Amino acid sequence: MKNQIINHLKQYGQEHLLTFWDSLSDSEQRELTNQIESIDFALAAQLYEHRNTPAESLTIANRASDPPAYKFSTVTDPTPCKTRKPISFQEAISAGHDVLCHGKVGVILVAGGQGTRLGFPHPKGMYPIGPVSEATLFQFHFEKVLAASKHYGYQIPYAIMTSPATHHETVDFLAQKNYFGLRKDDVFIFCQGTMPAVSLETGKVLLNSKGNIALSPDGHGGMLAAITQKNRNGTSVLDCLQQRGIEYLFYNQVDNPLVRICSPEFLGYHVLIGSELTSQVIRKRFPTDKVGNIVEVDGRLYVIEYSDLPEEIARQTNSNGSLKIWAGSIAVHIFNTALLDRTSKIATSLPFHIARKKVPFVDISSGEQIKPEKENAIKFERFIFDLLPSAENAVVVEVDPPNHYAPLKNALGSLTDSPETVKHDLSAMYSDWLRNAGAVVITETPVEISPLFADSPEYLKQKIKKGTVFDKPTYLQN
Ligand code: UD1
Repeated sequence: MKNQIINHLKQYGQEHLLTFWDSLSDSEQRELTNQIESIDFALAAQLYEHRNTPAESLTIANRASDPPAYKFSTVTDPTPCKTRKPISFQEAISAGHDVLCHGKVGVILVAGGQGTRLGFPHPKGMYPIGPVSEATLFQFHFEKVLAASKHYGYQIPYAIMTSPATHHETVDFLAQKNYFGLRKDDVFIFCQGTMPAVSLETGKVLLNSKGNIALSPDGHGGMLAAITQKNRNGTSVLDCLQQRGIEYLFYNQVDNPLVRICSPEFLGYHVLIGSELTSQVIRKRFPTDKVGNIVEVDGRLYVIEYSDLPEEIARQTNSNGSLKIWAGSIAVHIFNTALLDRTSKIATSLPFHIARKKVPFVDISSGEQIKPEKENAIKFERFIFDLLPSAENAVVVEVDPPNHYAPLKNALGSLTDSPETVKHDLSAMYSDWLRNAGAVVITETPVEISPLFADSPEYLKQKIKKGTVFDKPTYLQN
């Protein structure tokens, strides 16, 4: 057995992975063998070899122009889309209602990230974020899907992508919470793949303990392979969705509890334009805002990650002083299921991105566990938004942050995107909804509304008596 594996590893110069083999228990040896079998060493070698190839994003940044954009507004469209047909907000809502009422929309949540910056020792979805109720991020998302299922009269299928880092805890947590009221048969939990971390200096795959390879989730782009991966019965999660008649998949990340899941206006723009992939954006607040930048080059849309956008290009302005590269992705998309199906069959649909990171590892010569102080490793990740250039008629829709975007990224006490800022933004949004419905909310009173009570300001209006006063922390729920 050992010799067979060594011969396999020798082809790629990775036989060091068995250095501690003889000291491992049977089960540890089996686990290590499974890990080795799951790794595409030829791919890792090829990616390592090209580690210094300049990223395509620089060429794209130099040639970038405005993406075709619509904007949510009940009045008039303040930034009419120059290169696509005019669509009013009302037309968009009505087209969105239509596809929802015909049961054509499913939802996907990506929750495979390790949430390193937050410093929470569980999947991020389990973080209690409700400003009054302490509801978890998962509860917010699940209740929104349940609310939409009730509005539109069908069981909306809900796909949840985990990773080996988050899978078991997520599965147990959701089962224990009874899927927050969704039917188990409508929840499709699937696990994304991993990629090994390799040494920055040598390209050798790192061990993070004597019997364990340093593997990490392969990025949310891993969704494309994972959602189309066939199970023992020859069916993938995407097959299940398509068999249920799902044509559009609403996508969001686990970290943003303000997201309007299944918002009919967003779906409506997507459908009326005939887009295969539509993304929500915010107008960047400052040039180096930490969001992906959506731009157009030669009629195709691309995302340039904030970390790949040179500062001098990020700072360029138009003659009126506005930012040239202005459209910040908040990672809320609609995918046509047909686009996922088509692109999953093309191996090069999603490129790998390279990130230089500090990865703890075992020193092969001494067997010692090392915690590096500077970057020592390369990780490989795919990003799902790299499907944009493959999508026909892709467009963006601009939304306002106070009603759509407050991500939980950083630990308690951080100035931005922290538990405190997210709770504050949630309460501020719900206060606005209540005031808009005719209630009086005393300044700074924490308020929260369960999506099952009302998942939009319009629904809330039907439920709140004008003049109701909120002067103490309140959680409105059914
Ligand atoms: C991400 C986007 C950025 C966008 C911002 C909006 C990337 C690379 N960048 O930044 O363009 O403006 O969100 O908030 O995504 N995830 C997985 N599997 C993985 C890695 C991540 O499911 O292997 C999930 C996470 O659970 C999370 C989401 O993807 O829901 C975002 O991941 P994160 O690494 O936090 O991205 P950001 O750098 O915050």
